[in-house]
Amino acid sequence: MLKYVERKQTDSTKWDGLESMFGAEDLMPLWVADMDFKVADCVIERLKEYLELGVLGYYKESEGYKQAFINWEETYHNYKVKKEWIRYSPGVVPAINWFIQLLTEKNDSIIVLTPVYYPFLDAVKNNGRNLIESDLINEEGKYTIDFKDFESKIIENNVKLFILCSPHNPVGRVWKKDELKNLLSICKKHSVKVVSDEIHQDIIIGKNNHIPAATLGDYDSMLVTLTAGTKTFNLASCKNSFVIIPDPQIRKAFDNFVQCIRIPSGNTFGYIAVQSAYEEGRPWLEAVLHQIEENYLYIQEKLHKELPLAEVSPLEGTYLLWINLGKYIKGDETEIFIKEKCKLALDFGAWFGGKRFNNYVRINIATSKENVIKAVEQLIQGIKDTDR
Ligand SMILES: Cc1ncc(COP(=O)(O)O)c(C=O)c1O
Repeated sequence: MLKYVERKQTDSTKWDGLESMFGAEDLMPLWVADMDFKVADCVIERLKEYLELGVLGYYKESEGYKQAFINWEETYHNYKVKKEWIRYSPGVVPAINWFIQLLTEKNDSIIVLTPVYYPFLDAVKNNGRNLIESDLINEEGKYTIDFKDFESKIIENNVKLFILCSPHNPVGRVWKKDELKNLLSICKKHSVKVVSDEIHQDIIIGKNNHIPAATLGDYDSMLVTLTAGTKTFNLASCKNSFVIIPDPQIRKAFDNFVQCIRIPSGNTFGYIAVQSAYEEGRPWLEAVLHQIEENYLYIQEKLHKELPLAEVSPLEGTYLLWINLGKYIKGDETEIFIKEKCKLALDFGAWFGGKRFNNYVRINIATSKENVIKAVEQLIQGIKDTDR
């Protein structure tokens, strides 16, 4: 069912954007978070059908689009989303930036749990807000939240907004109910609003269970959720994501904001692709999850055998594997080493919060097993050659 696609010379960011991002073309790319798998047949069929009409005029969102999302959330996440809460955004990252502008003022403090998906950090800084980082606790690759540090930083800096990443990119945690409840109750206690980025909600490995933050109690007046079918179904270029705003006042503010930037809706292809994926794409997703788990287990086992001091964080969710190579490569040499000796293009730890994470790399494993095997061999060989 799952088909690998050769993407070189297709204007793909991951495969064809190597020179501009890494300064070299001859690298095996396992960086930007999309998949090298052909999208579900149902998506291609519906898009084809629409294209064959031969008219690409203005499009009115179909009746079934929001309902498909509502059904998905209820079926797979036990989250009953009301239709009137749902808004459009071209991406989760744009929406994060919008909410920073909507919910905070210039110089206000915004907190994140680091290491974290770097557009969070850029969004805070680019909007002239004060970035507060609470580092996760790392015990031999297993990450947990330092609640004491989180709360004291909120108090010290009069924090107004928390941007939650759930599941967490890059450390692969799927937060447990108690962890989320703790975070939310600390935020509530100190009047901190929460933007919960749940774009990885469907990429859950093994027996882990994603819990939408919004289902945990009475947080409607302080919490918005951002999610999308684009990560789940490999549709990133379709620019279509969901903003869930249960609170009427925040909704009104959001609607006014969107009026002013004139982005009330997106392109036709995004709506059609996402709707069809939610309606018929589940078997495709199951095949993807199976492949991701197989790739993960392979890497874990191979590195355990060949590079036993590499620390692979347990992958509970996302298809992004976080690995500490600090016992083999000096932190400030990781980027050059990985590029020049291993011929790999990976996301580098320092991008996720600064130099203190420079022992780490993040590997995107949503690709063929063959590519994963090749990449891991290049990593092992690069390190072994230098060891000699
Ligand atoms: C946590 C997280 N949020 C958002 C995004 C990107 O979202 P979008 O393409 O909808 O802006 C990614 C992509 O990797 C991500 O990992």
